[in-house]
Amino acid sequence: MKVTVVGAGAVGASCAEYIAIKNFASEVVLLDIKEGYAEGKAMDLMQCASLNGFDTKITGTTNDYAKTAGSNICVITSGIPRKPGMTREELIGINAGIVKTVSENLVKHSPETVLIVVSNPMDTMTYLAHRVTGLAKHKIIGMGGALDSARFKYRLAEALEAPISDVDGMVIGGHSDVGMVPLISHATRNSIKVSEFISQERLEQVKEDTKVGGATLTKLLGTSAWYAPGAAVSGLVQAIACDQKKIFPCSTLLDGEYGLKDLCIGVPVVLGAKGIERIVEIELSTAEKEHLQRSAEGVQKTNGLLNL
Ligand code: 2OP
Repeated sequence: MKVTVVGAGAVGASCAEYIAIKNFASEVVLLDIKEGYAEGKAMDLMQCASLNGFDTKITGTTNDYAKTAGSNICVITSGIPRKPGMTREELIGINAGIVKTVSENLVKHSPETVLIVVSNPMDTMTYLAHRVTGLAKHKIIGMGGALDSARFKYRLAEALEAPISDVDGMVIGGHSDVGMVPLISHATRNSIKVSEFISQERLEQVKEDTKVGGATLTKLLGTSAWYAPGAAVSGLVQAIACDQKKIFPCSTLLDGEYGLKDLCIGVPVVLGAKGIERIVEIELSTAEKEHLQRSAEGVQKTNGLLNL
């Protein structure tokens, strides 16, 4: 199992670290355009191997895609992160060119790869990867929902005063401050609807805090977050690498599911060895349906800014 992570910045390096710590991949290649940077991060991470007890071999390369050849899974984290006050959509001008070049190079050297897109605006970058690589649609996955759902569970546990392991919840829709749709109607505490424990008003607060989860961290950190994004990617990579058939909300190309077409947006999918093995359609409340529709309109608008 060979995994390539493009972009050795904070998100890319965290992905590599979590993948290595989980010890399921034989090799992780980190690639960056900054001279020596990926090599340095890889060496630092490898020096954790004996301390953290993993055997995954991590190597770094400065933009040499030949070293990524034959990767089973490639992750794109490259591009600029947002600064406080910016939306993810504002990054499209710079990141679209980067994601286009990176995805073309990756697929040239690993034509059979499954591609995971993390760069923002993520849903639009996932759509772009489809258009430029021609990879089968089940092989292109946008990472946003797994992260947003982890943030949702964090906020739910806080509001419920319950351990996170007792809480389940999912965020679908676009990976943007307004586009995220935290599914309150499906959120549970040990199989019991969360509305049994807390007021509607408190749940609305949980929803709003979840939607601005990334923005809150960007304000605190001065740049976008990396631990939870890295952990979320490692979860998707593991589900594919180990053929786990786990359900995550991921951005995927829709063709009529949820009444949406010709865009990538977050919905629940089953992840296994083939990539996206099934799109799961679930019942939504009227408010959630309307929110998903508005979210899709926002993603389509951003997609319209692509020069395709
Ligand atoms: C986030 O922290 C990376 O978009 C990302 O939400």
